Amino acid sequence: MAIQIDGKAISAAVRAEVAAETAALKQEGVTPGLAVIIVGDDPASRVYVNNKKKACAEVGFHSEEFALPADTTEETLLSLIAELNARKDIHGILCQLPLPKGLSDKKVIEAISPQKDVDAFHAENVGHIMIGDYQFLPCTPAGVMELLHRTGVEVEGKRCVVIGRSNIVGKPMAMLLLHENGTVTVCHSRTRDLAAICREADVLVAAVGKPKFVTADMVKPGAAVIDVGMNRDENGKLCGEVDFDAVEPIAGAITPVPGGVGPMTIAMLMKNTLTAAKMQTGK
Ligand code: GUN
Repeated sequence: MAIQIDGKAISAAVRAEVAAETAALKQEGVTPGLAVIIVGDDPASRVYVNNKKKACAEVGFHSEEFALPADTTEETLLSLIAELNARKDIHGILCQLPLPKGLSDKKVIEAISPQKDVDAFHAENVGHIMIGDYQFLPCTPAGVMELLHRTGVEVEGKRCVVIGRSNIVGKPMAMLLLHENGTVTVCHSRTRDLAAICREADVLVAAVGKPKFVTADMVKPGAAVIDVGMNRDENGKLCGEVDFDAVEPIAGAITPVPGGVGPMTIAMLMKNTLTAAKMQTGK
């Protein structure tokens, strides 16, 4: 039986720490401010944005939502970002991705001031992460590291396997594990003998975007298995990328879906926004 890593409780602990620091910062006259941009009416994006705004209110941040129609032009979106870059009361800017067709994720990411890029998606911040000298970490990989730390899972010297190589999760995830002296392998759709590579992992992170992709034969007994997925199964029930019922008896520790990595992403966004506010105000 694996230890179930409780992302809800760990997220609440991180958010409580952020709330305490925010209260102290407010005494010094600074209220962290986050601008959240949503373009179009993707239902999943709407849920994420609502959750982000709610989390801001709970930790004591000021947040502003900018909801733009799906036919918004690039010019309008970029000029909103330029306005927000210049505002002193907004310390973090987040544009919910993916954007509707016709708008470039890349152009928007590069338009956000790196100091306000609380997603850590800008090339300048990605570069900082690569060399291990960073202020912000992308929220999902940072959330995974927080789960490992607070569960007492050691990375140093361990075999770590990340399935998936996206810019948002897989690549930065590999880098963070490497910074903590893990021996890291990144697997992807062209990897040969993927199951055998996964079976060597002491820490296995699934960020591939395919429901129930990780099966029991891919897991080493005692491994820590982290599921970044958020999918719906054939019955419409939320499920991850790990076949939880089959893997849980083998793993040493495992994250559930929901209630594992998901809540951590928002907690780390709060942490990044607080860091941004402190950096920009010299506190
Ligand atoms: N879409 C899915 N995940 C994310 C995220 O972490 N940040 C943003 N901006 N968009 C997303």
